[in-house]
Amino acid sequence: MPTFEPTLLARVGKPDSASLETYLRDGGYEGFKKALAMPPVDVINLVKDSGLRGRGGAGFPTGLKWTFLPKDHAGPIYLAINADESEPATFNNRILMEEDPHQILEGIAISCFAIKSNKAYIYLRYEYGRSYRVLQKAVDECYAKGLFGKNIHGTGFDLDVVLHRGAAAYICGEETGLIESLEGKRAWPRIKPPFPAIEGLFRKPTIVNNIETMACVKQILDRGSAWFKSLGVPPDPNNPRDAGSYGPKLYCISGHVNKPGCVELPMGITTRELIDKHAGGVWKGRKAKAVVPGGISMGFLSAEELDLPLDFNGPGKAGCLGLGTAAITVIDDETSMVDVLFNCARFFAHESCGQCTPCREGTAWMHKILARIRMGEGQLRDLDLLVEVASSMGIIPGTTICGLSDGAAWPIKNAIKKFRGEFEEYIRTGRKTVKPSDALMEVH
Ligand SMILES: Cc1cc2nc3c(=O)[nH]c(=O)nc-3n(C[C@H](O)[C@H](O)[C@H](O)COP(=O)(O)O)c2cc1C
Ligand code: SF4
Repeated sequence: MPTFEPTLLARVGKPDSASLETYLRDGGYEGFKKALAMPPVDVINLVKDSGLRGRGGAGFPTGLKWTFLPKDHAGPIYLAINADESEPATFNNRILMEEDPHQILEGIAISCFAIKSNKAYIYLRYEYGRSYRVLQKAVDECYAKGLFGKNIHGTGFDLDVVLHRGAAAYICGEETGLIESLEGKRAWPRIKPPFPAIEGLFRKPTIVNNIETMACVKQILDRGSAWFKSLGVPPDPNNPRDAGSYGPKLYCISGHVNKPGCVELPMGITTRELIDKHAGGVWKGRKAKAVVPGGISMGFLSAEELDLPLDFNGPGKAGCLGLGTAAITVIDDETSMVDVLFNCARFFAHESCGQCTPCREGTAWMHKILARIRMGEGQLRDLDLLVEVASSMGIIPGTTICGLSDGAAWPIKNAIKKFRGEFEEYIRTGRKTVKPSDALMEVH
């Protein structure tokens, strides 16, 4: 097998990698020039042919999403770039934005041209102050060089790119919450349909795409769809809904490993290889007890499930919600799953926007029940109660507006199914990993 060469991270760590000057020296914006010479529909077809699936979490095919825009719309059509990156342990967008912002901006320019949009908004996680400064400087450089603005390269194509700092909440990353927030409102997700491609930002057709997706678009224009498809995993013949997992992927690794970080690899590496080959193994000579495969809303893999591929199809085979953001978090065998699950539940109870009763009440009650277990006052029947609450909330059972609720339910269902023995022992022995007074302080 030929050695894999990183492309998305190829310029990271090089001197002055964020400047337009070095980017142009490395062949930057040639893909945009190439796109400008093509009919927009050919750019869409190229991205469709590549098999690129969105990197923001849901894995929806990018080119296909673009075709959902109404044909011959008078405009405006918007591109809203999701740089909210609020899924815990996920930091690949940040690396791209801070180390190679022009790769992202070129992907945005190509995508806008393809979907006939003259305006892109980058919705940036509020806490990412450095990303904001670096990106804004890069946007300014593009205007100064005539890469953004009016009549780019004399083609008649106009493009404005606006950076918008987010409202500092997890729900701002959900695409319709993001749109509401961009409109200056509270980030309450919208009921769908209509989907954003039909009625999105300012009620106009809008495509929402992730930062890493934009980097992939730029690489596809440079290297072609066949190159993209030569990496990764073809569709699973046993899963008619699997569209394959092609291309390079940025995997974030954190938690109890010797060398946390972000690595670029072809889609489909196993969790075990990631931990052992790319993260220096589990720390302190311990073993992994559980691994979060792609942000905590995906659930948990047990130690026996680490050989499944981390592609769009793999984690689902072990009952996880999906690949999510491909940000893995390793939990060692000396860590209490009760504590881990309590942390997850606390996060979701805090982040639920409160519009839907099953999500608002469900996340709050799961948090309270886990706090009770954690301070040694749990009962065995609490475990079934947790599963019952978790099973009745989310888009999948059809009771909520957005997927935050499914993501809140999944770690609960997975942890109790896969680690029930540990939870039962904790409850039976009246163990406490926290003083009751502290546990109560953590429930607000
Ligand atoms: C609660 C919640 C939070 C989300 N947060 C993010 C996020 O921070 N970044 C992101 O790109 N997608 C996030 N998503 C997914 C987006 O709704 C959307 O699918 C994605 O931005 C589309 O881009 P893509 O097609 O390029 O993946 C989130 C979804 C949910 C339900
Ligand atoms: S599912 Fe939860 S986060 Fe999503 S809209 Fe409903 S209450 Fe808000």
